[in-house]
Amino acid sequence: MKESLSRRAEQLRKELERHEYLYYVLDQPEITDAEFDTLMRELRALEEANPELLTPDSPTQRVGGQPREGFVKVPHSSPMLSLDNALNEQELREFDSRVRALLKSEKYEYVAELKLDGLSMAVNYSGNRLQRALTRGDGRIGEEVTENARTIRSLPMHITWHAFTTEPFEVRGEVVMPRRSFERLNDERERAGLSRFANPRNAAAGALRALDPSVTAARRLDYFAYFLLQDGGPMLDSHWESLEKLAAAGFKVNPHRKKCANLDELQAFIRDWDTRRESLPYEIDGVVAKIDSVDQQERLGWTAKAPRWAIAFKYPARQASTVLENIEVHVGRTGTLTPVAHLKPVSIGGVTVSRATLHNEDEIARLGVEIGDTVLVERSGDVIPKIVRVVEQAANRHPFRIPKSCPVCGGHIVREQGEAASRCVNTNCPARLRESLLHFASRGVMDIDGMGDALVDQLLSRGLVHSVADLYGLTTEQLLELDRMGNKSASKIIQNVEGSRSRPLARALNGLGIPFVGERTAQLLSDHFGGLDAIANASIEVLQEVNEVGPKVAESIRQFFEEKRNRELVERLREAGLQFTAAKHAKEDGPLAGLTFVLTGTLPTLKRDEAKTRIETAGGKVVGSVSAKTSYVVAGEEAGSKLDKARELNITVLDERGLFAILGAEADNGDARGPR
Ligand code: IVH
Repeated sequence: MKESLSRRAEQLRKELERHEYLYYVLDQPEITDAEFDTLMRELRALEEANPELLTPDSPTQRVGGQPREGFVKVPHSSPMLSLDNALNEQELREFDSRVRALLKSEKYEYVAELKLDGLSMAVNYSGNRLQRALTRGDGRIGEEVTENARTIRSLPMHITWHAFTTEPFEVRGEVVMPRRSFERLNDERERAGLSRFANPRNAAAGALRALDPSVTAARRLDYFAYFLLQDGGPMLDSHWESLEKLAAAGFKVNPHRKKCANLDELQAFIRDWDTRRESLPYEIDGVVAKIDSVDQQERLGWTAKAPRWAIAFKYPARQASTVLENIEVHVGRTGTLTPVAHLKPVSIGGVTVSRATLHNEDEIARLGVEIGDTVLVERSGDVIPKIVRVVEQAANRHPFRIPKSCPVCGGHIVREQGEAASRCVNTNCPARLRESLLHFASRGVMDIDGMGDALVDQLLSRGLVHSVADLYGLTTEQLLELDRMGNKSASKIIQNVEGSRSRPLARALNGLGIPFVGERTAQLLSDHFGGLDAIANASIEVLQEVNEVGPKVAESIRQFFEEKRNRELVERLREAGLQFTAAKHAKEDGPLAGLTFVLTGTLPTLKRDEAKTRIETAGGKVVGSVSAKTSYVVAGEEAGSKLDKARELNITVLDERGLFAILGAEADNGDARGPR
């Protein structure tokens, strides 16, 4: 009996490890999250009932052990030095000339890699098992963070490829926090009344050095390996081969790497990634170039600080300083007041910036910023610019205070204990209605194309809508009365409103604007309950049975549905014909019926489960691996071997736009509206 239990535990561990690898390293899951959870639960139950079956590298141990008092300091096998920087092409050329001179007229090659904006970590393996993980520390002595490192799912706890090495070895690489984890963390912190992290690197550093490993686990870090060492020195003769070997052994190695035969090729790689870096799911701050041959590396040697065989080309920060001219308050759809910085317009990386978000009063206090100050502003990707710090305090500066009454309706403002945000409590505040309408109609929610700021403002000023439900009563004739509205646009808008009735339950739920219920929570609620009535009638306890729904979110949902006006709104939307039941089963007559899809890589706007739901709602099937039976492969950024397979089998590959096209929907370019 015991023996069969132990065999089952072993089998589960192997299976879970394989699925972790497929999901976190290759980004090619073969099973659903729910199936994964079931396996994990079975293993956990087995281990709890039979503690002797528990192994330190069991996948159940990734969730984080006991909090500890402090970190043990441990010397590195060889110093973890830093890299010299090249801040422009001239400095890069100088570096290359130095290399050429030192190597006389020998041929050499570079390996170009992305410079991941995280923190480095060394991980020691012995007997092919993860033994110890150290932060860089001061370069010579690191801090032991083994328990925390174990929570990083892309870091193998043991190497199953036995041809790898039987000797102890060490991997060095970068711990990063993906943008999505970072955004989610900051949103959660804000909701919990905590201050936001300034950037993913700080958040990753905090997570890796958290005394409680469950904190690390919740922050969803990632690890990219870039060095393979033995006894403190390179294990193989070529850096490129080390990277390949690491990938083969199950480590996540950044796929964007290139062998460059000369400076021109290296510069081309650098320029290419400068234009594309915002599309990566994590932040990079440059490109690292390393001489490929270890023999040449050794001959080039090191200075006291850094190797002479590598250089970090740093992209110029997308930052500029300008004057904070004013701070205005924006009232959001849940009544939250957000201070918005009005800046003297400044060009940052080719884009003129005149607004930045300040989030809340705590953020203003943290920055110590006052109106009139000169501030450093940073722009990253399509996110709203933010203020990094005060560069110079103005002589005539004056502090900003959250108003005592709502700047739009004059209503009462409250800041509840433990909350970072102040809110206007007037549920009829016109600003709240305006924002609710915009949120409801926005892409990713009810997708009512054409229902932007200008139209909503007109509808409100003419008293045509008093709630989101009124949108469904609008007529072409009413729209024709509005400024700059022709027959064609009016009927198109009405058509778009009509079309939105068929959006899935999760979207409608998100559209209701329940505080703390965004896209993800709405999807989880929809999956769990299957219908709006079940959600509206669920108790706080029952709501909390849903993954990721805690007391605060549950309380907010309850409160929302207890309010009479919200119940009435729901009834009116039901009458308008919105989907209040989840499309659990594929529509057999949907436009994609009979078609099989495989998803790979990160799409620009759709999350994987969202893309899956959309395909399934339209009648299509989503499977894990590409075969001759696959109809389409939908590929995004960092698509892996599935894409190669698709090409091999001549299967049509779609990007997100292509997917939208066959879904009959419109591309989701993200809504470039002002700060909130
Ligand atoms: S090589 C001595 N490769 O950048 C070799 N570093 O400025 C140093 N980093 O401390 C590391 N991506 O934290 C290397 N592909 C990459 C990297 C990388 C990010 C970080 C690392 C290092 C710092 C050096």
